[in-house]
Amino acid sequence: MSRIAYVNGQYIQHSEAGVHIEDRGYQFADGVYEVCEIARGNIMDMTRHLERLNRSLTELKIAWPMNRRALQLVVKEVVRRNRVHNGLVYMQVTRGVARRDHVFPSPDTPPSIVVTAKRTDPRASAARAAQGIKVITVPENRWDRVDIKSVGLLPNVLARQQAKEEGAQEAWFIDPDGIVKEGAATNAWIVTKDGVLVTRPAETGILRGITRTTIFDVAKKLGLKIEERGFSVDEAKKAKEVFMTAATTVVMPIVAINGESVANGHPGTTTLSLREAFFDIAEKTPAC
Ligand code: PDD
Repeated sequence: MSRIAYVNGQYIQHSEAGVHIEDRGYQFADGVYEVCEIARGNIMDMTRHLERLNRSLTELKIAWPMNRRALQLVVKEVVRRNRVHNGLVYMQVTRGVARRDHVFPSPDTPPSIVVTAKRTDPRASAARAAQGIKVITVPENRWDRVDIKSVGLLPNVLARQQAKEEGAQEAWFIDPDGIVKEGAATNAWIVTKDGVLVTRPAETGILRGITRTTIFDVAKKLGLKIEERGFSVDEAKKAKEVFMTAATTVVMPIVAINGESVANGHPGTTTLSLREAFFDIAEKTPAC
């Protein structure tokens, strides 16, 4: 089956889809994006993702490419046309096409919008979760505004690649005080010996993950306590459980840090119960 992409007002064959060579996303990474999980035919947490998109656009003074309601319809339509039952939907908005110049183009330059969807295999993800994944640590080398979901992801790309080359699946950025910030594309969590969930505050220094936010709802339902504070790599190594969250992985257990087994080398029960409960508690928007 052929894939369909939405590009600036048109649904076109994915293989033929493209943006202009002077799109500012292409030249300057002058754009933002969102990724939503699609689970059992539902777009997960769409309201929160669009709210964060609004925040990213506002912070960078990029206009909405269409109104929010229209974008919701496009997202649903792309998922529907690609017949994605389980997978991911990606949306990207850039400051548009203009002759190369660092300063913003004239305000009447329309932003560019691209929406794509792809299938993923929930069984593969479940198999990964049953085993747990490995992380490495790398020094933080990103800019200060990682709270904005910008398409400028070069440090993240390099960190993930390094993880892969070292036999791991994710890289954690560590701040100069040895405190874990977040993964290249995930938020980081531990569970203490007392069963308390710990994650770094999202006011500065990390992306406020939507999965992370929804985990607060899930934890409340399950009667689990969350402490928002930094934790060191050392504390993570001694923690009862370690996991990460993102739309792409939902809740994924971590069983090794820098090649050392953590949490007895097995996914923990709290982590798996959060993963299990997530679907029921998250907002679900049927794609058709
Ligand atoms: N990444 N931190 C970073 C740096 C991220 O890029 C992401 C998401 C997260 C988790 O956010 P959320 O729960 O909203 O997915 C945290 C997406 C999935 C990506 O780049 O593919």
